[in-house]
Amino acid sequence: MYKFLFTAFLALSSLNAVEVKEEMAVPYIAYEIKMGEHFDTIQGQCLTCHSFGYIINQGPQSKAFWSGKVKKMENAFGMDISKKDASSVVDYLFKHYGNGKLK
Ligand code: HEC
Repeated sequence: MYKFLFTAFLALSSLNAVEVKEEMAVPYIAYEIKMGEHFDTIQGQCLTCHSFGYIINQGPQSKAFWSGKVKKMENAFGMDISKKDASSVVDYLFKHYGNGKLK
């Protein structure tokens, strides 16, 4: 009986999403990225899959951290990058988003 009442209660209560009558605007967030040597490589390689937000949100990190992330993008997500470009990208990331530590 209680089970039935509970089911009836659930069925009658409004579980539907509230109807929104106003117009909604999805915010556009432009992540600012630092310009510098090898920026074009970063732009070409990283923007294919995601915004610069992922990079900026990491905060200042070590060279090993950035090189690990570039490897992760290659191994886990299939980023296609030459050795030379990968090393340019790591140099760029460490220069602009580095914490001065190699490890
Ligand atoms: C082939 C697609 C692809 C490319 C190209 C790519 N990424 Fe990613 N990246 C991803 C995905 C997918 C995630 C999200 C992973 C998650 O949500 O856990 C991600 C997340 C990240 C993160 C967040 C931290 C983390 O470990 O997930 C960083 C930092 C990052 N990418 C850096 C880069 C950089 C730098 C480049 C360019 C050199 C790059 N990505 C290029 C697919 C890619």
